[in-house]
Amino acid sequence: MHNFLVLGSGGREHAFAWKLAQSNYCNELFIAPGNGGTQAHGKNLDLKVSDFIGIAAACLTHNIEFVLVGPEQPLVEGIYNYFKTNGTLKHITVIGPSKNAAKLEASKSFTNAFLAEYNIPTAASLDITSKNIEEGFAYIDSNKPPYVLKADGLAAGKGVLIIQDPTEAKENLKEMLQGKFGEASNKVVIEEFLDGIEFSVFVLTDGESYKILPIAKDYKRIGENDTGLNTGGMGSVSPVSFVDETMRNKVIERVVKPTMQGIRDRGMDYTGFIFIGLISVQNEPYVIEFNVRMGDPETEVVIPRLKNDLGELCVMIKEGRLGEAEIEIDHRYCTTVFLVSSGYPEKYEKGKAITNVPTKITDGVVFHAGTKLEHDILKTNGGRVIAMSALGANLQEAIKKSLEQAEQVTFEGKYYRKDIGFDLN
Ligand code: AMP
Ligand code: GLY
Repeated sequence: MHNFLVLGSGGREHAFAWKLAQSNYCNELFIAPGNGGTQAHGKNLDLKVSDFIGIAAACLTHNIEFVLVGPEQPLVEGIYNYFKTNGTLKHITVIGPSKNAAKLEASKSFTNAFLAEYNIPTAASLDITSKNIEEGFAYIDSNKPPYVLKADGLAAGKGVLIIQDPTEAKENLKEMLQGKFGEASNKVVIEEFLDGIEFSVFVLTDGESYKILPIAKDYKRIGENDTGLNTGGMGSVSPVSFVDETMRNKVIERVVKPTMQGIRDRGMDYTGFIFIGLISVQNEPYVIEFNVRMGDPETEVVIPRLKNDLGELCVMIKEGRLGEAEIEIDHRYCTTVFLVSSGYPEKYEKGKAITNVPTKITDGVVFHAGTKLEHDILKTNGGRVIAMSALGANLQEAIKKSLEQAEQVTFEGKYYRKDIGFDLN
C-alpha cells in the first residue's frame, strides 16, 4: 500500500481520485489543490500545481510515494526532473513525463520535426518566425484556404487559428509573431488543413512498454452542433463508433509504435500518459497534436471504462513492468456532459450555490471540476463546474443517463449541451 497525490483541480483529477480511492494499492490519498468533489476520496492540500517546493514538502510530510500529474503546466515546468534530481525526493515516482519529453505538447515545431523523423502521418507544415515571415505570406498566396496558424508554444488552448480569408491570415500571422499569444507565438507553425473527424487515443507508458486505453472523442464548442466559441470541453464519449478495429490498428502501427520508438531512441524519460489527438481523413489517421497528460473531459469517460486498478498500474510503471499488465475495458459506452457557468467560456460569475447533486447513482458518476465547499455549502468555482458521466449498453442509453443527471442539479446560470455524441451512432 502506498500514499498517492493527484495534482490538479478539474474533473480529470476527480476521476483519478475516484479511481485511486478504489485501488488495493492506495493507502492514503491526497489531492492538490483538488475541488469540492475530490475531498470525498482523500484530503485536499491547498497547494498550486507549480509550487514544487510546497508539493515536495507535502510529499515528505505525508509519506507520499506516487504523484499522478493531471495538467500539462507542472510537466512542462519540469516536475518530473525536480523530483528525480533531488536526493530526498528520488524515491517518489512522478507519473508524468520529463521536461524534455513534455516538449511533445509544449512545442508544435518540436513535435512536427519528431513526426517527420518517424514518418508519422500528420499535416504538412512550415515554421515561421519574424525572420522568414515572407515565406509564410508566400505559402498563403500559393495555397487554398482554410489556413491553419498555430502558436508554437502553449497558449492555454487558444493558440490555433483557422482562417478562410488570405488577407486576414497574413494579418494574423503578423500579429502572432508580434506577440498576439505572448512568447508562445514568437514562432508560428502554418499547417495544411485536414478535413475530417477528430478522435483521441490514450496511451499509458513506462517509457519502454505501452498500453492502449479506451478511445474517446470530445466536444469543444460551447454551442450545440459544434457551434460557437471553443471551450475546455463540453462533453465526451467513449468508445467512438467510427474507430473500428481497422482504424485502431492503423493508429497503433503508424502512430503509437513509431512514437514509442522515437521516445526510446531519443532517451526521453517518459512515464505516464500520451494523449494523441487524431483526425480521420477518408479513414486514414493523421496526428493533429500530442498532449503529455490525459484529456479533460476525456478522462471522465476513459477512467470509468478502465477495469484495472489504477494504483497497481502506477506501481507497474515505477517498476518498469507495465508490459505485464492486461488492460481490461468495460465494453459499455460512457458519456459525460459538462455543466458550465452562464457566460463561459467568456466572463462568468463564481460562488453560486449548487444543490441537488445526485449521490448514489447506478452506472453513473458525478465528477466535480469548478466547485468548492464553503462551510459545507457547495459552490461554483469555475467555468466548467460538474461533469455527469454515465455508462450504458449503447451511446443513446449512456447519454440519456448523463442528461438525466445533468437535469437534476441546480445552480444559477447552469448550461449544458444536450447533443453530446450527435455526430456518432
Ligand atoms: P490543437 O490545439 O493543436 O489541438 O488544435 C485545436 C483544434 O484545431 C483541433 O482540435 C482541430 O479541431 C483544429 N486543427 C488543428 N490542426 C488542424 C489541421 N491541420 N487541420 C484541421 N484542423 C486542425
Ligand atoms: N479535451 C482536450 C484537452 O484536454 O486538451
